[in-house]
Amino acid sequence: MGDYILGIESSCDDTSAAVICDGVLLSNVIASQKVHENFGGVVPELASRAHQENIVPVVSEALREAGISKSQLTAIAFTRGPGLLGSLLVGTSFAKGLAMALNIPLIDVNHLHGHVLSHFIKREESDSHPEFPFLCLLVSGGNSQIVLAKSPKEMEILGKTIDDAAGEAFDKCAKVMGLPYPGGPHIDRLAATGDPGRFKFSKPHIPGLDYSFSGLKTSFLYTLRDALKEDPEFIEKNKADLAASLQHTIIEILLDKLAKAVKEYPVKHLAIGGGVSANSGVRKAVQDFCDRRGIKAWIPERAFTTDNAAMVAEAGYFKYLDGEFCPLDSPPYSRVTI
Ligand code: KG4
Repeated sequence: MGDYILGIESSCDDTSAAVICDGVLLSNVIASQKVHENFGGVVPELASRAHQENIVPVVSEALREAGISKSQLTAIAFTRGPGLLGSLLVGTSFAKGLAMALNIPLIDVNHLHGHVLSHFIKREESDSHPEFPFLCLLVSGGNSQIVLAKSPKEMEILGKTIDDAAGEAFDKCAKVMGLPYPGGPHIDRLAATGDPGRFKFSKPHIPGLDYSFSGLKTSFLYTLRDALKEDPEFIEKNKADLAASLQHTIIEILLDKLAKAVKEYPVKHLAIGGGVSANSGVRKAVQDFCDRRGIKAWIPERAFTTDNAAMVAEAGYFKYLDGEFCPLDSPPYSRVTI
């Protein structure tokens, strides 16, 4: 009989539960909340209500797909932070209640560690993973960071955004174009047929390995505002080129700092993670970047790019192996560094 760990993720607008057995994934169920689409962004109060509705059916389905009953669980790993406090409270309280009822250990997981460790999710015992130390470009709706992963539990942020995250740049520019939320996947789809060199947007000049995306957002907004004065149909006529040029600029910003990072930290392996790592252009650019430098690139399965509990269970498994458990009175954190 193996060690079964239930992972629970509820940091933002995805309710997810996953089961792993000795580190091998058995199930990963995700309920994405559609309720936010009408508001152009995540509404925290609605997110926590939706988590409350989803958590029991999502956990039940994860156990069913894994083919086990809850009494077979060995431990429960949950996202303790960072994220929206009301959302985190739902997953945290549920995990605590179930761990107490089953009298099994509780493991707290840093959501950002989860994204970095998503490359260790195994479908089969023999699946490979990055070798430590490796660099991880962590790009999502809430974060844009370059992380040096030294071990499963030892990670250092080398650079991070000083304002917006890359995902926010995608989403906010998409909103200006009248695209639905979240805009990232829509930009990705439109960019496939557009000319990435057609429009030029400003790029930041920030020292070190930090990022900034707010200037790009403003530059995109002003380009559209000025062009719309001349031609009210401007966005409609140039949708694909606008998306391709925006995506191209975001990728250039990301890779400029990544190039600096690999010079300062000459690693053999480089990974990407977070929602924006689902982007076709980002995936291809990072693969090419690594190929040119003889670095092994780790591009995650799309299912493991956005928020998911498989990565939480996997990160929890590393702590489980070291007997690192968390007391029942541990509160969630909305802000926590890696
Ligand atoms: O990691 P994630 O699920 O949660 C947050 O931390 O928010 O990331 C969500 C972000 C959103 O900004 C979304 O637009 C972006 O990931 N995203 C994408 C793509 N798929 C998701 N951005 C660009 N291209 C995509 N294909």
